[in-house]
Amino acid sequence: MHYRRFGRTQFQSSEIGYGMWGLAGWTGTDETEVNKALDRAVELGCNFFDTAWGYGRGKSEQVLGALVKKHSGKQLFVATKIPPKNFKWPSRPEYRFEDCFPADHIIEYTEKSLRNLGTDCIDLQQFHVWEDAWADRDEWKEAFAKLKRDGKVRHFGISINRWEPQNALNTLRTGQIDAVQVIYNIFDQAPEDELFPLCRELDVAVIARVPFDEGTLTGTLTKDTVFPAGDWRATYFVPENLNASVDHADALKPLVPKGMSMPEMALRFILCNDGVHTIIPGMRSVRHVEANIATSDGKKLSETLRRELKNHRWDREPTAWSQ
Ligand SMILES: NC(=O)c1ccc[n+]([C@@H]2O[C@H](COP(=O)([O-])OP(=O)(O)OC[C@H]3O[C@@H](n4cnc5c(N)ncnc54)[C@H](OP(=O)(O)O)[C@@H]3O)[C@@H](O)[C@H]2O)c1
Repeated sequence: MHYRRFGRTQFQSSEIGYGMWGLAGWTGTDETEVNKALDRAVELGCNFFDTAWGYGRGKSEQVLGALVKKHSGKQLFVATKIPPKNFKWPSRPEYRFEDCFPADHIIEYTEKSLRNLGTDCIDLQQFHVWEDAWADRDEWKEAFAKLKRDGKVRHFGISINRWEPQNALNTLRTGQIDAVQVIYNIFDQAPEDELFPLCRELDVAVIARVPFDEGTLTGTLTKDTVFPAGDWRATYFVPENLNASVDHADALKPLVPKGMSMPEMALRFILCNDGVHTIIPGMRSVRHVEANIATSDGKKLSETLRRELKNHRWDREPTAWSQ
């Protein structure tokens, strides 16, 4: 595993981190296997774990808390998220700040996360949704100051809404945010336009989430794929999205180098960008953990392939189903 300096936090984060949403909202989770996968990830040098109160109302946080306790000899970085008070995903531009992140809600949910994690201090507490129009509100800054003063949070971050990488730029300029989490993958290259240059300028850490475009970039979805009721993907991969996503993934298949899989190419594309500090694939099996961590070996994709992959940028707008 290779490590990168996680912006001004100075933490050395593993290039491959661990996305922990799969413990809730995704069907087919085998908890015994997930626990083995988490242990294997730690064993292979993964030290960055992303969870949220919203992942099973604290369940994923409890699993992470147990992992940290079990591996107390290692320094594992815990990132979690505060749900919006209205519990609505995605955020919409018309939502009011006071309905999403009033100061008492920020504090209440940080306390809940601390209890779930069984720890005194959270390394990175993130807003689970955000609107840049809220940048100038004092309430969140006062809540941050109190939580830091009380030793309950080390750093704060924003998990930026899907397909809106520009929707946090002014907030970053307040100097209060140490990390952003953003969708960045072969399709979603828009963070390169404005977000990454600003993060570099301000020394804000970048977490690349959804590296496989929720599964499309694993190359395993077909136009006939059906997700069970209760799996959030059943509401995301509606026919309009599934058909277009499969077409875009199929267009990539001829580019996958011999001896490489499509998920490996997808991760290596992101690893080639040194403006990204950690990537957090969702993984629930030892097999996926081992395959994904193996990509952090310092080997780059060829310049020619990188240039070709640039042409597969796919800019999308938030829609009724995009979440
Ligand atoms: N608003 C937010 O803040 C937000 C939103 C979305 C995601 N996130 C964070 O980002 C993380 C990653 O996003 P995601 O999980 O939604 O999507 P993702 O990482 O793009 O895709 C996850 C899917 O890829 C599969 N997979 C992983 N490694 C694979 C491999 N080597 N070969 C084939 N398939 C592989 C996983 O299977 P298995 O599960 O079976 O291993 C899962 O079905 C989340 O877990 C969460 O921590 C945050």
